[in-house]
Amino acid sequence: MRTQVCIIGAGPSGLLLSQLLHRKGIDTIVLERKTKAYVLSRIRAGVLERGFVDLMREAGVGARMDVEGFTHDGTLIAYDNHQFRVDFAARAGASVMVYGQTELTRDLYEAREAMDGQILYNVDDVQIEDVTTQSPHVTFAMDGKSHRIECDYVVGCDGFHGVSRKTIPEEKRREYEKIYPFGWLGILSETPPVHHELIYANSDRGFALCSMRNDNLSRYYVQCPLDHRPDDWSDAAFWEELKRRIPDAAADQLITGPSIEKSIAPLRSFVTEPMRWGQLFLCGDAAHIVPPTGAKGLNTAASDIFYLYHGMMQHYLHGEDEGLERYSEKALARVWKAERFSWWMSNLLHRYPDQGAFDRKMQLADLAYLEQSEAAQISMAENYVGLPY
Ligand code: FAD
Ligand code: DHB
Repeated sequence: MRTQVCIIGAGPSGLLLSQLLHRKGIDTIVLERKTKAYVLSRIRAGVLERGFVDLMREAGVGARMDVEGFTHDGTLIAYDNHQFRVDFAARAGASVMVYGQTELTRDLYEAREAMDGQILYNVDDVQIEDVTTQSPHVTFAMDGKSHRIECDYVVGCDGFHGVSRKTIPEEKRREYEKIYPFGWLGILSETPPVHHELIYANSDRGFALCSMRNDNLSRYYVQCPLDHRPDDWSDAAFWEELKRRIPDAAADQLITGPSIEKSIAPLRSFVTEPMRWGQLFLCGDAAHIVPPTGAKGLNTAASDIFYLYHGMMQHYLHGEDEGLERYSEKALARVWKAERFSWWMSNLLHRYPDQGAFDRKMQLADLAYLEQSEAAQISMAENYVGLPY
């Protein structure tokens, strides 16, 4: 087989890049280790930055998002049994869109299928070869046979545990990592959201987040110890804990019900540099991870795709390589700012096991400053809605 761009991974990054390139006449094949149903069963992010929303529209997959997504002009921050609002529209002149990663991925699959885009599922043992030459190739196993794809470029969109990053020799990459001493226990329930905007809560008992997917589908999270398992938490225990972490006024409004999904995610900050090696480019979780607190994981994947898409267009449509040459530098400049914001928001809102009385006072002072200072709110809002690409 031969293609121009071989993409590893059919998560949101790989699908979006494939869709954008195909619409410009650039040929791609996407290789996915799992099935489409499996990818769609993963409940993950829910908040899209304005830049991502525009990119979805440019990819021709914005129609359902524009009808079913919810525009949010602000968010609530709660601490000390009260809450305040950061108004994104007033402070940063922009808003975000609440539209689940599952729905967005479903839209991308539908669009790829409608255009006869090639996605190969259930592939095994993907190996990326000769990326420091002008003729890289990818080998893999599928249906009990081995296959080979010749291509111009390979793009690693295969998430944190994929093969692409590890294809870059260890001595050629530098990795930066921070592991947080807690996880997030998340549930999805077919109940109306407690409030029409998100509530990020700092409490003595730990962090909590009230989010949503639509008018009758809520997503809630509580910080939990790393050694807990979802089965350790009954629905009743989850609701009880959530109520204790949000202001009484919100807890009184909370409508509870059975969970339809329950999972625990660890929190990690991670960046690998560079994001290009020869003809191999890394995008999204394959190159970097943020703790979910600032809703930046999926959005940072989208900004990588934006830079790479423009670089590929320059190359294939105009014979110009500046965009590809500078891909790693441009993507990383934005990634590090999202890493900073996610790290800051995580520090602001979580309870650390070794947190002393002084550290707690610093957190409360930081929250009070954010509540009272227009400058602090502008800073938070411009990062939350997404820094410019
Ligand atoms: P992925 O979505 O990980 O997709 C990678 C794809 O590559 C997968 O389909 C995988 O099966 C495939 N793959 C892997 N290895 C191979 C291989 N060797 N060969 C072929 N295919 C392969 N972000 C938020 O903003 N908010 C959240 O609440 C949030 N929650 C999260 C919860 C969890 C448990 C995780 C893991 C992430 C969460 N994120 C969240 C982050 C967000 O979901 C990711 O940033 C986003 O999925 C990145 O998309 P991606 O396409 O780069 O990677
Ligand atoms: C959601 C997840 C986040 O990490 C976040 O910051 C906001 C919303 C969500 O799943 O809805």
